[in-house]
Amino acid sequence: MSHKITYSGINKVVENDDEFSSILDLSIANQIPHLHECGGHGRCTTCRVRILEGLENLNRKSQTEQETSFIRKWDPSIRLACQAFPHGDIKLQRLIWSMGEVNQLQTELAPVGEADERPIAILFCDLRNFTSLSSENLNFDIAFMLNRFYTVLGDPILMNNGIIYQYVGDEIVGVFGTSGGTREKICTDAIRAALGMQYALTRLNSMELGDLDIELKSGIGINFGKAYIGHLGHPNHKQFSVIGDPVNVASKVQQHTKSSGASILISKPVLKGLPQNNLLIGKTFMATIPGKEQQLELFELLGFKEMDLALELQSSLHEMLNDQDGFASIFYDKVFALAPAVRNLFKKNMTDQGRLLTHMLGGIVYSLARPEHLALGLKKLGESHVRYGVIEAHYPVVKQALLETIDKTLGDQKTDKTLIAWNQALDHVIDTMQNWENE
Ligand code: HEM
Ligand code: FES
Repeated sequence: MSHKITYSGINKVVENDDEFSSILDLSIANQIPHLHECGGHGRCTTCRVRILEGLENLNRKSQTEQETSFIRKWDPSIRLACQAFPHGDIKLQRLIWSMGEVNQLQTELAPVGEADERPIAILFCDLRNFTSLSSENLNFDIAFMLNRFYTVLGDPILMNNGIIYQYVGDEIVGVFGTSGGTREKICTDAIRAALGMQYALTRLNSMELGDLDIELKSGIGINFGKAYIGHLGHPNHKQFSVIGDPVNVASKVQQHTKSSGASILISKPVLKGLPQNNLLIGKTFMATIPGKEQQLELFELLGFKEMDLALELQSSLHEMLNDQDGFASIFYDKVFALAPAVRNLFKKNMTDQGRLLTHMLGGIVYSLARPEHLALGLKKLGESHVRYGVIEAHYPVVKQALLETIDKTLGDQKTDKTLIAWNQALDHVIDTMQNWENE
């Protein structure tokens, strides 16, 4: 007998009579955007939902789901949509709406009431000239602009497996590596975030602040070391905290950007964690830190020597998907012009289909920081595409249409590396989708 799955928030009701369909299967089949980074393997937790009614109409949690719930301290109403199979009416709420939220989830894994020592990278980014911007532009909506800064400068932290830890005055603090990873990965994530922040600020200056004749600048300092992380504080108000000498030193590294004139400074522990042959390093500085006998050696970070695929994709994503429906409509027009026969494969609403595709493209860029989840998700997508009737020969058509759409949408906002990066990324995506059987 069929039963009802009600999605709160969007007031959508889906009928189901198949006990082998998980909540995630039902979302996908009904074109309801539902994050599922690992493709339903129970690994990423991005598909989590809160069951508002009908918890008894779901299967019991598997051992893996029980362990996940325990480690992340979830209450019993939270389930993984890919592991939950309804056999009666339920009402649910999807809990994660954007890929940006995914990295903040790492704070769930920090211990409560005590602190764990972990190797992390800490990034301090200071916004310059904001005060003059607000005082010289009396009609300026400061709250709006401050939110824009925080978004534009916070995204590169989130795209690179980092957590936005704090806003202190005009500073944003990001931490990387709180849930593990090698030193090289942690330091690379942090410097890619710094370079992405610098790029985002340049774009903000030229696009949104261009008419105001003001140029915002940032100073970024990064340090690496062992710090304590945990949920600490008053018993009624514990919050995620990062404590230790490396944090204080990172703040001092940032402060040194003011006197040195360098935009990004990294400490020696960061430099030592990175493969040397792929970095452009400028000047070297010696800084005195109050309370420390030894001077600190700091290095000006200018960029990557070779093209960094993830940085190029991340830097183009915002412009590319600024108008998601517009992007999808250009894309499908191109696909159907190149291969009219594939039109028949698309049985459902094309606007919703377009949103799922752009959602997925954005998701892929964010998930580059977690390649193991991304690969699982893409394999699952490839497997589904066989069921949709897609064959190998369709993929080059879709790739060509996507590249042409990216080219057209970005216009003069792209660099010569942007399309090269997307070309490579799509090859990887398609290759993984086509090899879904090799798990
Ligand atoms: C870059 C590679 C591709 C990506 C990232 C992609 C992404 C997606 C996504 C996210 C969906 C929504 C359903 C789901 O999540 O399973 C979807 C559905 C679909 N895609 Fe793709 N796709 C790709 C390649 C292709 C190709 C080569 C074709 C062949 C023409 C194709 C045809 C379809 C069809 C027919 C559907 C189902 C539409 C429906 O149910 O009406 N896709 N795709
Ligand atoms: S845990 Fe459900 S999709 Fe990853």
